Amino acid sequence: MLAEPPQARPLCVLVEQLHATLGRFSLALSLARDALAWLDAHGRIIWCNRAFDRLAGVDHTALLGEPVTELLVLERDGHPVTGELHPAVRILAEVDELLENYDATIGDRRAVLEVYGRRGRIEGQPAAVLVIQDVTERERARAELSTANTRLASANQELEAFSYSVSHDLRAPLRAINGFSQVLLEDYGTVLDATGKDYLQRVRKAAQNMGKLIDDLLRLSRVTRADLAWTTVDLSAAARESVRELAASTPERSVDVEIPDGLAACGDARLLGVALQNLLDNAWKFTSKTTNARIEVGVADENGERTFFVRDNGAGFDEAYADKMFGAFQRLHAADEFPGTGIGLAIVRRIIHRHGGRIWATGALDTGATLHFTLPTDGECRT
Ligand SMILES: Nc1ncnc2c1ncn2[C@@H]1O[C@H](COP(=O)(O)OP(=O)(O)OP(=O)(O)O)[C@@H](O)[C@H]1O
Ligand SMILES: [Mg+2]
Repeated sequence: MLAEPPQARPLCVLVEQLHATLGRFSLALSLARDALAWLDAHGRIIWCNRAFDRLAGVDHTALLGEPVTELLVLERDGHPVTGELHPAVRILAEVDELLENYDATIGDRRAVLEVYGRRGRIEGQPAAVLVIQDVTERERARAELSTANTRLASANQELEAFSYSVSHDLRAPLRAINGFSQVLLEDYGTVLDATGKDYLQRVRKAAQNMGKLIDDLLRLSRVTRADLAWTTVDLSAAARESVRELAASTPERSVDVEIPDGLAACGDARLLGVALQNLLDNAWKFTSKTTNARIEVGVADENGERTFFVRDNGAGFDEAYADKMFGAFQRLHAADEFPGTGIGLAIVRRIIHRHGGRIWATGALDTGATLHFTLPTDGECRT
């Protein structure tokens, strides 16, 4: 049996439904928090919502048919934006769309208004719609943030410049201490007894240690100051190069190293090379007392984030102090057990942070350590 054709709805029902739909839209628009207005080809208001009434500070009925340029008084750099410069006029005359901020006085307060305008047509005639948002609070917060950022950047810069010049200036007196101690030993060695010579040797050793600390501080400072040259970096090649150097400096060691091909990240090739070198330096050093030493460099997916890692099965560390090891001159092992000044990871952390990445460490005493870090992916590579 054939189904009966659907009954056409009577025109009056359709009109009623259309009416109801229009009513809902009209109510929603009239209650919207942004000020909305439709303008005719001469910039006169055809329709506007309550937020627009409040913005103009004029009764709704007095707005309709009036030119928007007189109702919406906008300013820029302390001057009123009038005539052809008014966004409503420009929208109708020259541009299809605009989004601009202006100053205005609303009641007794100064405000920043974001004006969005778009050209359209009503009944075949040119028309325009304006959507105006009061962004005073947002702009104030943005300005405060920007001032705070500028202050912070200049304070940081001052601090960096200060530590750089202090480190530099400290080298001269140190050279004098070291040099004169040596001269004293050479020229007056016969006058000094064994204890005197021992003291002088200690003075020299301390001066040399301090020289090393200053060099480390300078290295850390340079990492902060260097401009980043963004490119795609072959981390596999950089890691292999570091391992080659480490192996050449300690040919007696046999370490099982695994570095897969194709580890790539976006960043500054020189700085990422320095970071990997420091991480591998540590892995190499802290496996120096481990039989079957093993070092692995790789990449893993951790909660959807591409994370690189350098893992070893060496001395490890107590995870309770995992954050501490990234501080300058912070060490978790005694210098007579594993030598070092404690600057390597501070440098690595700065490098990773400058790239917008994160770094953290996991491990346990006597079982090894893993240093994890993130870097921008190729798609995010800035040029
Ligand atoms: N792979 C690792 N295994 C165990 N401990 C580590 C490892 N890497 C770092 N640490 C711990 O973190 C500390 C800080 O590391 P960092 O590289 O900053 O200094 P360092 O290696 O001691 O000295 P430097 O790098 O200045 O020669 C180390 O002294 C060590 O205690
Ligand atoms: Mg180190």
